[in-house]
Amino acid sequence: MKKVLLATEKPFSKEASDEIVKIGKNAGLDVVLLEKYSSKDELLNAVSDVNAMIIRSDVADREVIECGKNLEIIVRAGAGYDNIDLKVATEKNIIAMNTPGQNSNAVAELAFGMMVMVARGNYDGKTGTELREKNLGLHAYGNVGKYMAKIAKGFGMNVFAFDPFLKDEQIEVDGITPVHSVEELYEKCQYISLHIPANEKTKKSINYSLISSMPANAVLVNTARKEVIDEEGLLKVMAERKDVKYVSDIIPDNFNLFEENFKGRFFFTPKKMGAQTEEANVNAGVAAINQIIDFFEKGDIKYKVN
Ligand code: 3PG
Repeated sequence: MKKVLLATEKPFSKEASDEIVKIGKNAGLDVVLLEKYSSKDELLNAVSDVNAMIIRSDVADREVIECGKNLEIIVRAGAGYDNIDLKVATEKNIIAMNTPGQNSNAVAELAFGMMVMVARGNYDGKTGTELREKNLGLHAYGNVGKYMAKIAKGFGMNVFAFDPFLKDEQIEVDGITPVHSVEELYEKCQYISLHIPANEKTKKSINYSLISSMPANAVLVNTARKEVIDEEGLLKVMAERKDVKYVSDIIPDNFNLFEENFKGRFFFTPKKMGAQTEEANVNAGVAAINQIIDFFEKGDIKYKVN
């Protein structure tokens, strides 16, 4: 019997993990849970005898992967797979997958909710602003970007998107205006929402020059990854321009500097919670176990990322 580990330092809802176990059992798999673990040793111990592993932002680095002597597949229940060392997985003939699109609506709702909150001055009782007729720039137009666009259009925003991997028609079909350079997007849009992955190309790419080119009362929304921000550049812009605000689903490395210098101009969730809804937990978790079943039963590698 193949053994599947669900390793989630930040656990799924009980409904989601129960469903994963049930689906796995029905397919003849032994699903074991390691939730809310507090040390890497617990993960190393749990991975040592399993054939498959489902993770969230849990780090699958060389040590973890090498410890999983029987590992055949790792599924990141979510979109970003920068937490998996793909090189090592490939070296060891282990398939790595993600579950694209399954938690995108949850992330978009959080990003948009933070925009509303900022526009209303963090609900401080004073006069705020509206989002209607403001420009929103979507930096990448993937699954989350598409949900953002739908919500923003409902609010009457002017929506622009930059995505070098898409043709204009693929953006225009949703009634969104494509722009052809990242510079143009930032210059045009008071609100920018980031939906890019963290990789060698994007790390620190949201820098001083881009952020400082944004129009008056700029708001940068980051539900992507903290690594894509050049924090030094962002802090410099915020020091120079009192109208710039930053809201993020990821606590930055320089949290103390934001706290000391820019009170009221930033908001960070206490723990990454974009995908933390019951619906997204079920969607991503069920997709992950089904992908594992399809892999073991049919050799299906549709969502392979390595
Ligand atoms: C993702 O890449 O899918 C999101 O960042 C969600 O990550 P999480 O599952 O760790 O909340």
